[in-house]
Amino acid sequence: MKVHIEKSQIFADGIDLNEEYGKALSLIAELRKNEEDFTGWVNWPSELPAEWMEAMEKTAEDIRSKCDRLIVIGIGGSYLGTAAVEEALGGCRDGFPKLVYAGNNMSGYYHAGLKKIVDEHDVCVCVVSKSGGTMESRLAFSIIKDWMYEKYGREETASRIVAITDPHKGILREESDKEGYVTFEIPSTIGGRYSAFTPGIMFPLAVAGIDIREFVRGAKDMSLNNGFWKEEGINYALARHALNNAGKDIEVFEYYDPSMRLIGEWCKQLFGESEGKEGKGLFPASLTLSTDLHSMGQFLQEGKQVFFETVLNVLGRECDVIVPESAGPELAGRSLNDINAMAVKGVMAAHRKADIPIIRIDIDEITEYSLGQLLYFFMMTAAVTGKLMGIDPFNQPGVEDYKQEIRNLLGQ
Ligand code: PA5
Repeated sequence: MKVHIEKSQIFADGIDLNEEYGKALSLIAELRKNEEDFTGWVNWPSELPAEWMEAMEKTAEDIRSKCDRLIVIGIGGSYLGTAAVEEALGGCRDGFPKLVYAGNNMSGYYHAGLKKIVDEHDVCVCVVSKSGGTMESRLAFSIIKDWMYEKYGREETASRIVAITDPHKGILREESDKEGYVTFEIPSTIGGRYSAFTPGIMFPLAVAGIDIREFVRGAKDMSLNNGFWKEEGINYALARHALNNAGKDIEVFEYYDPSMRLIGEWCKQLFGESEGKEGKGLFPASLTLSTDLHSMGQFLQEGKQVFFETVLNVLGRECDVIVPESAGPELAGRSLNDINAMAVKGVMAAHRKADIPIIRIDIDEITEYSLGQLLYFFMMTAAVTGKLMGIDPFNQPGVEDYKQEIRNLLGQ
């Protein structure tokens, strides 16, 4: 496995990981039965139809031949997975279209900036919305479509749009059928934040040249590895729950490589939206280190101890820099990645002196395959911890409340 979470990687006093071990394992077994609503994601990496994969790859090739910029419209679960995987793997690939994101905010300033991209580049659009009705993505789609009509005309624009939505219902489904867009489905049994291995996340990645077969293979291996879940995989859910019971209200995700920043954002959505219900849940926060040690380091070390830390510790990165002579004799000739690894150790040692509980998740490397494992690992953990907390990790009743208030203000 590429993800490791042995008991020896959990640094916390006074918590018992054995107490709920049996219950947590039976929760995984229950989830695998797929009997509950919105648990379609659990076995999905093994169930994803081969013809979907082929169709995504073929359409990705066609889209690549038409554009150098793919504007990916979506928000929340219909955006973060794509952006997080793309960023972790290192952004723009030579010879592949660059992904540009829209519809993940309602800033006129941000979206006005996209006009230049439509004017100056060959663009295609991938609009992702499971419901089809989310305000941010609807607005961005109509604005960008309008610019594309001006540039390409209506028919050509339609051939440059791929829509990913519910198989049967919603405004986007109706429009796609009417206008003849190429479409892919987000299965109705899979909710937004658990949709990492559906076309909503994977199709744009395929256009950007990311190997989605390897990504799903990672998830599949993670989902089927009973030994991993029995021996170590379950430790993370058990530790999170035990720390929450011991009075910790905040989980701070930390990573020492800025390319993991959006993985942190993805984790915040997954855990926050899954667990924050009925006055329960861990509040997920994230920090990029060592950058944020120079702003938040003081609070971590000496502030109110309401949190624990989860370190996403990437062990191997393909690129590195050797420190030159001018840096001085202690540092010269050393690898920057090795120095960064020392920072992980040093900061953990300092924080342990302050009795901060720390969970260290080791990730061997950042590849499509390991990211597939990692994202599936987090999804299963969110489901199991949520259930141990006694809430439904698959609904989001609170999200609807603010969406309705905004609609009221806009007179809709
Ligand atoms: O996880 C979720 O359900 C949400 O974050 C949704 O993904 C988000 O609100 C976007 O919804 P939709 O895909 O329907 O546009």
